[in-house]
Amino acid sequence: MTLQIGIVGTGWFSKVHGDILAGMDGIRVTGVTGTTAAKAQALADRYPGAIGFGSLTDMLDSQKLDAVYLCIPPMAHGDIEAELIERGIPFFVEKPLAADLDTPQGILARLEQKPLVHAVGYHFRYKESIRRLKESLEGRTIGMALGAWMGDMPQVAWWRSQEGSGGQFVEQTTHIVDLLRYTAGEVTEVYAAYGNRVVQEHFDNVTVPDVGTVTMKLQSGAVATISNTCILPGGVSEVGLHLYTDSGILAWSPERLEIHVPGTKTAYTGQDNPYVAETEAFIHALRTGDTSRILSDYADAVKTQRITCAALESARTGNPVSMGE
Ligand SMILES: NC(=O)c1ccc[n+]([C@@H]2O[C@H](COP(=O)([O-])OP(=O)(O)OC[C@H]3O[C@@H](n4cnc5c(N)ncnc54)[C@H](O)[C@@H]3O)[C@@H](O)[C@H]2O)c1
Repeated sequence: MTLQIGIVGTGWFSKVHGDILAGMDGIRVTGVTGTTAAKAQALADRYPGAIGFGSLTDMLDSQKLDAVYLCIPPMAHGDIEAELIERGIPFFVEKPLAADLDTPQGILARLEQKPLVHAVGYHFRYKESIRRLKESLEGRTIGMALGAWMGDMPQVAWWRSQEGSGGQFVEQTTHIVDLLRYTAGEVTEVYAAYGNRVVQEHFDNVTVPDVGTVTMKLQSGAVATISNTCILPGGVSEVGLHLYTDSGILAWSPERLEIHVPGTKTAYTGQDNPYVAETEAFIHALRTGDTSRILSDYADAVKTQRITCAALESARTGNPVSMGE
């Protein structure tokens, strides 16, 4: 049976997901929703027979969709998910879940009332290097972790607005926080220091900090620090998570996993595409009802969002925030 998929959002990542979906057997992208029908049609034109709509309601009234992909800025979440849940339509939602914590908590409550197949786009969980890292951790004790998302500022206007994106730690570094939870376990306390060094001087309407360091205590007793900046020039970046264990260092970056134990350093550089893998897992769940291949669901992603939002609160108040775990 051919599955009909709709996409909400007409930006960069809608195209990435749309192209992957359109290239898969038995899948058709049939509808796109944008802030205007014209913008939606411009993206829909990439996919044979697809139609652009100016609102989600119009798309859902016109087409019998098997699922919808949400690739929208953080501040645009809430009503869209509520309508999909109300109509019982499965969805794949890009991270982060929102710019705040209240919105996803409300959506989670609705999902718990009316469960349906869904997935969240924490794609790094699907990388072979992360599977190997988790496997290598078996029998080892993690003492501490250091993570980073050091890069330049994405040029979309919503990203530089605190209300629009939630800031870099919520919007981008959330990937590393999610991997920390996925590999090292839950976080119990968060302390953050943020600053504004450069970006406000170079761009208009910047309300997000451009440097930050977040220290966390984990349920296991381990400690972690994840830092980020968006002041670097384009083309210069450093992204990754290093775990320090009783048998050595596991240094992960999106391109490479390096394991350093006494006497040996091994490296793995897989070329697998985690965006394809996450969509395959979601499509498998749509076809079979078996959600076991989905590695990030909404309830789990809310736990990551709780940490990134706690960091924001800690940076604002100057106090550590207990996660009550
Ligand atoms: N997992 C990843 O690696 C990854 C990579 C890039 C982006 N993303 C995520 O995908 C999301 C979108 O990012 P992007 O780069 O495509 O942004 P973008 O700015 O290029 O596109 C966002 C689109 O959403 C549209 N939009 C805004 N509000 C809307 C609404 N209420 N209804 C319908 N459309 C609306 C905008 O018009 C725009 O077309 C973000 O949450 C981002 O974090 C994830």
